[in-house]
Amino acid sequence: MAGKFEPKEPVNLDPPKEDIITKEYLSKCDGTQEKFPILVAIKGTVFDVTNKKDTYGPGGSYHVFTGKDASAGLGKSSLKPEDAHSDFSGLNESEMETLNNWYTFFSKRYNIVGKVEGA
Ligand code: HEM
Repeated sequence: MAGKFEPKEPVNLDPPKEDIITKEYLSKCDGTQEKFPILVAIKGTVFDVTNKKDTYGPGGSYHVFTGKDASAGLGKSSLKPEDAHSDFSGLNESEMETLNNWYTFFSKRYNIVGKVEGA
């Protein structure tokens, strides 16, 4: 039986990395600087979404989640910039499930390049 959130086309992923990624570096990785990858962090795990620049780069629908840990916004299904932060302690049970589902979704599509410092 196929698992949940499988991508339509198979994705070849690299082994997950455990590198520590500083918040300062992460903040540069929002698609506004050509030399940096585009990164989204969920629950402290950093995913490389550079290959989806149209979606995550400047002007893209989900640009708000880049360059940071956006757990709270993903859990609350919110695109508000003020919700795109790492503190998911205020999420209710169904929002936590949504957040965990996004983690699964990202982990099936995007390489894990490290962990956010302090996470
Ligand atoms: C009018 C409301 C919305 C519509 C019509 C919409 C539509 C879509 C569509 C068509 C996709 C592509 C699905 C796929 O590739 O299989 C998508 C992906 C996604 N949506 Fe939405 N969405 C909406 C609202 C939201 C909200 C409020 C959030 C906040 C969490 C959100 C977060 C995402 C994320 C993170 C992805 C994954 C993008 C990727 O990496 O491929 N969406 N959405």
